Amino acid sequence: MKKAIIIGATSGIGKRLAEILAQHHYKVGITGRRSELLNDLKLQKPNSFYTNTFDITNTTVIPECLEKLVQELGGLDLMIICSGTGDLNENLDFEIEKCTAETNVIGFTCVANWAFNYFEKQNSGHLVSITSVGGLRGSRMAPAYNATKAYQMNYLEGLRQKAKNLKSEIFVTDIRPGFVDTAMAKGEGLFWVATADKASQQIFKAIQNKREIVYVTKRWALIAAILKRIPRAVYNRM
Ligand SMILES: NC(=O)c1ccc[n+]([C@@H]2O[C@H](COP(=O)([O-])OP(=O)(O)OC[C@H]3O[C@@H](n4cnc5c(N)ncnc54)[C@H](OP(=O)(O)O)[C@@H]3O)[C@@H](O)[C@H]2O)c1
Repeated sequence: MKKAIIIGATSGIGKRLAEILAQHHYKVGITGRRSELLNDLKLQKPNSFYTNTFDITNTTVIPECLEKLVQELGGLDLMIICSGTGDLNENLDFEIEKCTAETNVIGFTCVANWAFNYFEKQNSGHLVSITSVGGLRGSRMAPAYNATKAYQMNYLEGLRQKAKNLKSEIFVTDIRPGFVDTAMAKGEGLFWVATADKASQQIFKAIQNKREIVYVTKRWALIAAILKRIPRAVYNRM
């Protein structure tokens, strides 16, 4: 039986992924700040889910919480970082930027670090993180969100290079969604919005195939290709 941990499994993509993994006979450690939602999920399949409530920005407790979960699961094959935050912030309210950076950069790094070190010791494992198409370019509407997602993409690339350099059986997957119908999908003019189920099914397939970088849903690869090619002088005026 494979063992996985999902950071940010209380709602949206993380919750749906947890259900899909349980359907495929994984034992799943589920985390988030809202313990009542974790307990609701555990009630669905008590033998599949193991809960641990923590805030990813509280990095002093994370190693202990993850070690406890791994002990309960009896090992770890797959770590999925789904937690994330970000708000539209046209007024550049520093508190919003700070919270986004603490969650998407500091918290993310703490978990990714812990997982990679764990996998290095056992010479195998799979680290998956949900970044965003938004991380490909800056955003005047949500500067910290896009910047923190760019950080995550770059960090994952570094870990992937490290895994190859170690000649290990460690895999690193960067999932880049466009819009998915969850609490995180904010703003007007959203398009190609996928359901959490459709996005999560595609993510699960990418995990099974140990893909390195995947756009979700698939057609967002087209938007990514266009975004990367827009000249800076044009992008600055958009
Ligand atoms: N929805 C989209 O359109 C979209 C597009 C691109 C990328 N993404 C990315 O997809 C990922 C999943 O988001 P979602 O769309 O599924 O939204 P969501 O339903 O809001 O899920 C966010 C998850 O992150 C957890 N989380 C947030 N802050 C946390 C903290 N400080 N400590 C621990 N857990 C925390 C939440 O749990 P608690 O609140 O219980 O702590 C929740 O489980 C995020 O990284 C997001 O950036 C989403």
